[in-house]
Amino acid sequence: MQTVRDFARFKAAGRAIAMVTAYDAWSARAAAGANVDALLVGDSVAMVVHGHPTTLTASVEMLALHTRAVVRAAGGKLVVADLPFLSYRKGLCAAMDAVETLITSGAQAVKLEGVDGHEDIVRHIIRSGVPVMGHIGLMPQHIHEAGGYRVQGRTDLVADTICQQARTLEDLGCFAIVIECVPGSLAARITAELHVPTIGIGAGGDTDGQILVFHDLLGVGTGPSPRFVRRYLEGESLVTTALNAYAADVTARRFPADEESYA
Ligand code: KIV
Repeated sequence: MQTVRDFARFKAAGRAIAMVTAYDAWSARAAAGANVDALLVGDSVAMVVHGHPTTLTASVEMLALHTRAVVRAAGGKLVVADLPFLSYRKGLCAAMDAVETLITSGAQAVKLEGVDGHEDIVRHIIRSGVPVMGHIGLMPQHIHEAGGYRVQGRTDLVADTICQQARTLEDLGCFAIVIECVPGSLAARITAELHVPTIGIGAGGDTDGQILVFHDLLGVGTGPSPRFVRRYLEGESLVTTALNAYAADVTARRFPADEESYA
């Protein structure tokens, strides 16, 4: 059974942390059988599983449903669940209801984006015994403010703000911080300053760990991959080839064969 304490141990040992998102029992089982360290039920589920254009339509109920499916097959890997858009911006009670739903669904920790304006909520969640993973840099829940999925922290001013957010999240007690889509030098600076592990996505090679979206990594995502994605499989074309082979066998009456039929 993995816990958030393993993250600190990995950082102390200089051992890079490999995370991947998972959304259902199948993806969790695949990750559970592999050497990845922890799973994130990300609000990216709204995009890659439900086909929405942004993560803004993810809800607590959606995340809870997918968290329960992931936990059933996670085989003892740490499962972190995302707090979706606005669920921690409507006051403490609403935030704690959302946390309760995700933790009673089986997640061992929650992740939330940003920190400005919800410091008290982060502190309260952590003091309630729920580990929190921070998320800074590109925050997809701020897509309308950011004007698109673009690299953050290219100017000194914004870079300093992101560093400050990282320090605040560490001071509040976050056990790890995701840094998304920033220049590698900025992620390296934050990683060197912090005691808690940083998990990068599009943040260069100097963070304490990396995370990728399951569908991106396996080449079953829609559309072109961002620069920071490395595809380890061309999954979509493999699946299409298999489906075409099946359809060809059916139309040519080669499937089912006698051994695939009952006497
Ligand atoms: O929702 C998600 O998949 C994420 C990762 C990209 C870190 O937040």
